[in-house]
Amino acid sequence: MKRENKYEVTSLDIQNQQEFIEAMKQYNLQEFAKTQKVKKYIVVTYGCQMNEHDSEKLAGMLQNMGYEETDDKKGADLVIFNTCCVRENAELKVYGNLGALKNIKKNNPDMIIAVCGCMMQQPQVVEAIKKKYRHVDLVFGTHNLHKFPELLVNVKHSENMLVDVWEQEGEIIEGIPSIRKYGLKSFVNIMYGCNNFCTYCIVPYTRGRERSREVSDIVTEVTDLVNNGSKEVTLLGQNVNSYGKTLEEKVTFGDLLRELNKIEGLERLRFMTSHPKDLSDDLIDAIAECDKVCEHAHFPFQAGSNKILKEMNRVYTKEDYLESVEKLKAKVPNISLTTDIIVGFPGETEEDFLDTLDVVNQVRFDAVFTFIYSIRQGTPAAEMKEQVDEKTKHERFNRLVSRINEICGEINQSYQDQVVEILVEGPSKTDPKKLMGRTRQNKLVNFVGDESLIGQIVKIRIIEPKSFSLNGEVIL
Ligand code: 5AD
Ligand code: SF4
Repeated sequence: MKRENKYEVTSLDIQNQQEFIEAMKQYNLQEFAKTQKVKKYIVVTYGCQMNEHDSEKLAGMLQNMGYEETDDKKGADLVIFNTCCVRENAELKVYGNLGALKNIKKNNPDMIIAVCGCMMQQPQVVEAIKKKYRHVDLVFGTHNLHKFPELLVNVKHSENMLVDVWEQEGEIIEGIPSIRKYGLKSFVNIMYGCNNFCTYCIVPYTRGRERSREVSDIVTEVTDLVNNGSKEVTLLGQNVNSYGKTLEEKVTFGDLLRELNKIEGLERLRFMTSHPKDLSDDLIDAIAECDKVCEHAHFPFQAGSNKILKEMNRVYTKEDYLESVEKLKAKVPNISLTTDIIVGFPGETEEDFLDTLDVVNQVRFDAVFTFIYSIRQGTPAAEMKEQVDEKTKHERFNRLVSRINEICGEINQSYQDQVVEILVEGPSKTDPKKLMGRTRQNKLVNFVGDESLIGQIVKIRIIEPKSFSLNGEVIL
């Protein structure tokens, strides 16, 4: 496989892709005339919200081609795995599920199997798929997702596995149709890629260099979503608070928040994910000033020890992080904070781990995503000598999680009898007789209420705080 950027990508490309979408639509119509069956697709997504959003784009293109969604792989004519490679577990799941498809495809030889996403940006993965998973029909990467219609047409005419992975990103492609899974809550990419090269992380190698979308394109997209019923928008990027650095226009993430805050009909604005090094005073001011920006910030600190933070190339210290948090809490008093933590980074001693616990105790996060360090081939940390043994990693992980759960439980208890404002999303997942929604702090609330409340902002009194959610009643 020749892994180079073969094409000069221009925004005209997307119009060409419309021709391929049309060709597939005609083909599917002819098939329907013969069989009376609509072609079905399923997109299985692994990993982060960025991937979820890419999957919405794939779904948008497929629906324009006349495909219908199914949740059953066995009955699907097209199965797509949109993969993640941030940790080894995610990769192993993909291989396991791909293997299981082999027998399903034996009973349905016309089934098309496609794999895309971050894993495919790694040459060794593509080689493994070529060798061991020959039942796969199409492999593509993160940089040529917009070419999917063309690739699908080519697969139809090809006997062999079609592999098209671009090593480098092209310019940002605007206008890809996407199916929004949640009408009320939508995701909007504001930037792509990452320049930070944290030494444990594979993302800069799979998602390419940082590049921001134009403010006007983002404003148009958000306005359009609001006009179509969205009440809450989450801005997505690997490091949203460095937004604007690649644009000619001098604009910061704070400026973007202020601009989006003007959109009438938009109720709530959130963002994910941010790097503590870019938490400027201007951004803190913007969060405090903009009434639509929710009082919730996700600032991954990863580790508490300055030695480990340096080895991770995080460019801030424990003290810097704690100081930023203090500033944020002072300007936005009821802000909820969430974070990501890695335990067992190479060289982590018990003392280093205690620094991580210390940050957890001082900040008192509302929720934490905890990860056991996973070696990622091709990253600097994979070459570091003092890898921590599995037993120690798990033992520290368990201690960390139990402390985090204690704190989260205590924070939830403090909500007893408080009145909160929630956006009602739909039926509760744990009790279908109830409805659920989230507070501006992103707390999950279950309550008894009429379905007509879905989509509305409602005041709720908390009557029973639980460890990971709150039960409440509507205030009339
Ligand atoms: N091992 C464990 N966790 C990782 N993350 C990123 N790379 C690794 C790795 N190699 C975690 C970080 C990041 C989150 C999305 O995934 O905490 O913030
Ligand atoms: Fe990975 Fe660090 Fe970039 Fe986040 S900021 S995507 S952890 S390299």
